[in-house]
Amino acid sequence: MRMNVVIVAAAVLMLTIQTSGQPTWGCSGPRTEEKCVCSPVIHVHNYGDKQEDSSDTGTSQDVRLAELEEQVRNLTEEVALLKQGRENLVCPNGSVKFQDRCFSFSTDTKNYAGARSACQAAGGHLAMPKDQATNDILRNQLTRYPSGSDAWFGLTDLAQEGTFVWEDGTPLTGWSNWYPGEPNGGSAESCAHWHGSYGYKWNDRRCSHSQYYVCEVSAAVP
Ligand SMILES: *[C@@H]1O[C@H](CO)[C@@H](O)[C@H](O)[C@H]1NC(C)=O
Ligand SMILES: *[C@@H]1O[C@H](CO)[C@@H](O)[C@H](O)[C@H]1NC(C)=O
Repeated sequence: MRMNVVIVAAAVLMLTIQTSGQPTWGCSGPRTEEKCVCSPVIHVHNYGDKQEDSSDTGTSQDVRLAELEEQVRNLTEEVALLKQGRENLVCPNGSVKFQDRCFSFSTDTKNYAGARSACQAAGGHLAMPKDQATNDILRNQLTRYPSGSDAWFGLTDLAQEGTFVWEDGTPLTGWSNWYPGEPNGGSAESCAHWHGSYGYKWNDRRCSHSQYYVCEVSAAVP
């Protein structure tokens, strides 16, 4: 389709050249952005050496521009609809909604395995703060606990020492928020948590330790 547009635009230029008897090295129509048919010389002048296809015309660029602008409008509309859809999703009472997920903060304490089971029983899993935005939201909520409290989230290297994996089975790659020097516990400390006395940065700890935990479930259509 894009090729067709270029061919049609090229044909229009050829026709303009033929009917006028000689190339119009400049603008053949009124000097408006839409109607101006510009020559390759003008084109090169406008866009410099970076342009690969020097036979491209101003008109075909206008067409391409209009096409891209339509795509931008369409995508903007789609983003708005998706955001709206997200806003309409609901979370269980007492949980904190962020984007399309609901996070609940335990009132009891459990070891990692117990916390994992409790989250699964609630239809979800331990929270996965995979990016800074999510981590910030959750970390800021931990002040609900007594000062210095710690809390589990869903990340361990239980399956293979040194390779941390999220509760959904995806490995920890890219962004992380370990406290400097962590994780450092080797095979003795295989479960990750927010460490209250480390400003809620991440630490690895013995999975048998009992502490608060944060679960997540998908937000639901009302
Ligand atoms: C933009 O959306 C309209 C309406 O859904 C569609 O007809 C058109 O093909 C779309 N345009 C592009 C460039 O995707
Ligand atoms: C949640 O809280 C709202 C407002 O307090 C109440 O109307 C609603 O029934 C509650 N829903 C559940 C599932 O408890």
